[in-house]
Amino acid sequence: MAERILITSALPYANGPLHIGHLVEYVQTDIYVRFLRSAGKDVVYFCADDTHGTPIELAARKEGVEPEKYVARWFEEHQRDMRDMDIRHDYYWSTHSEENRRYSELIYSRLKEAGDIERRDVEQTYCETDRRFLPDRFVRGTCPNCKSPNQYGDVCEKCGKTYSPTDLIDPCCAICGNPPVRRSSTHLFFKLGRHTDFLRNLVQQPSFLYPSVAGQLAQFFEKGLADWDISRDGPYFGFPIPGEKDKYFYVWLDAPIGYIATTEKWAKETGRARDAMEYWAAGSDARILHFIGKDIVYFHALFWPAVLKTAGFKVPNRVQVHGHLTFNGEKMSKSRGTLVAGRTYLDLLDPSYLRFFYALNLGPGAEDLDLSLTEFRQRVNAELVNNIANLANRALSLI
Ligand code: 2FM
Ligand code: ZN
Repeated sequence: MAERILITSALPYANGPLHIGHLVEYVQTDIYVRFLRSAGKDVVYFCADDTHGTPIELAARKEGVEPEKYVARWFEEHQRDMRDMDIRHDYYWSTHSEENRRYSELIYSRLKEAGDIERRDVEQTYCETDRRFLPDRFVRGTCPNCKSPNQYGDVCEKCGKTYSPTDLIDPCCAICGNPPVRRSSTHLFFKLGRHTDFLRNLVQQPSFLYPSVAGQLAQFFEKGLADWDISRDGPYFGFPIPGEKDKYFYVWLDAPIGYIATTEKWAKETGRARDAMEYWAAGSDARILHFIGKDIVYFHALFWPAVLKTAGFKVPNRVQVHGHLTFNGEKMSKSRGTLVAGRTYLDLLDPSYLRFFYALNLGPGAEDLDLSLTEFRQRVNAELVNNIANLANRALSLI
């Protein structure tokens, strides 16, 4: 039987429109899938919306809707944008689904059985007004290093220094503006450190990770792999952790499990496989390949393989990493209003121009690529229209 290949793109958060930076990855993956298909390979391509976590819960609240309703809207919009960009998934699903709940619970129970989950008390920033623990991004204050006001609790956008929310001068809650307090709570940790040898060996395989990308992970091994907090206290939009009171799986635990959940949903809907385990069981001979951006390598090349191996699932064959997109030489930023939405592009231009331009500029490594409008126009006109389209047109006329 022909080898089966399963390919994924990273799951976009269900809290905003897709922008042309997201499209780098979806176009890259879609081109590769089309190539494999044209070569007669048995390939399936999956993606889904990533729906859980505090930012999504609070964004929904700000709009006065339930998180379920809020994410449902982005689910429709994301699929529309992808389809109009000519990106064809075999299935597009959601992490807020029964399939995902079931696999998240199953994987968690296996991690526990393996003795890889540990309880530990941690002290965190808590807002007594909002009655919730605050993720680092929801604490704001003055940077302890350069003294710039109104910086996030984890990194200063002005000087780039990283720190913890307790280091901020005059910290305040980003939701209500009041000063937070410290409070302790019990959290569940996945013992990542136990898997150091397995992971060190895995990321060094050039078939798994492009060598320069693997090099960026060396710092984590040097420091020693820290155990990973997979729980969050309520209120939280996510799946409750079985056997715990008011605790939820951290969004980054259930997000990649969404790849498996989407496989399951596709199998049940199409009958093209019995279930997800035909691809994801430890002994499966399917090839699994994830396309991701360079900012989430840590999750996909360290946590994810360790979780899968411990839970008795298949470890992916490859993680293919791309760099970030700059626009006219500048980093795109939501706050500065320089993000170009995929829909804005689609309202103006044909998707094939952007697909062509990305194909020209993407390589095997994770270097950033720039979309300069001057170069974009020049290359589309000269190479796509004058060379390729013209040649095709002449050849067709002749035939
Ligand atoms: O960084 C992000 O945009 C995440 N939503 C990617 C998740 S990919 C996978 F793990 F689900
Ligand atoms: Zn508050």
